Amino acid sequence: MVEDLCFHLVDLVQNSVAAGARVIRVQFRESRASDSLEMEVADDGQGMDGPTLLKVQDPFFTSKSFKKVGLGIPLLKATTEVCRGDFAISSRLGHGTRIRASMQRSHLDCPPLGDLEGTLLSLLVSLDAVDLRFAFHAARGSFAVSSAEARAHAGDLPLSHPDVYRFLREYIRAGLGGLLLSAQ
Ligand SMILES: Nc1ncnc2c1ncn2[C@@H]1O[C@H](COP(=O)(O)OP(=O)(O)OP(=O)(O)O)[C@@H](O)[C@H]1O
Ligand SMILES: [Mg+2]
Repeated sequence: MVEDLCFHLVDLVQNSVAAGARVIRVQFRESRASDSLEMEVADDGQGMDGPTLLKVQDPFFTSKSFKKVGLGIPLLKATTEVCRGDFAISSRLGHGTRIRASMQRSHLDCPPLGDLEGTLLSLLVSLDAVDLRFAFHAARGSFAVSSAEARAHAGDLPLSHPDVYRFLREYIRAGLGGLLLSAQ
């Protein structure tokens, strides 16, 4: 079992980047009423054909030449199974991939969310060739931020510039902070 859900998020986003995605949509949906937390990552990368899509759920399949096993997707699937959630993956060659994983929040084995604010900030700042579009929907409200929006604010400065970085960190903290209280 993994330490937190941010581990899974980073793995899925890395998979999308490796697939050549230009736009990566990350959505979290928290529902207290149905005691669930759902994480969805959808990209416009190279996608997978039918046989590959079946194989990726097997821990011994990876397209990385330097390793023999790919664990990201099987681990996420295992997490959803242990936490009485659902796992769904769909993909079209040449069009993109969508992965949706849900968990029963109150389940004892459900991993904590982890440092979502820090993880989101690192992804936004480090993925400079991608438009990451993030949204978190909870009963208390929603928060959304995207790389394109952040870059427009930053003007000529890189997102890693200390002033821009600080602004972005505070923006994410303010937007996500109140919503996350209920998700922890
Ligand atoms: N978003 C995606 N688009 C296209 N192919 C994908 C995508 N996500 C996963 N894959 C394919 O599925 C394989 C397995 O992914 P998985 O995350 O399980 O393992 P990995 O990325 O190869 O290794 P690890 O996550 O352990 O570093 C990848 O090597 C890649 O071929
Ligand atoms: Mg992976």
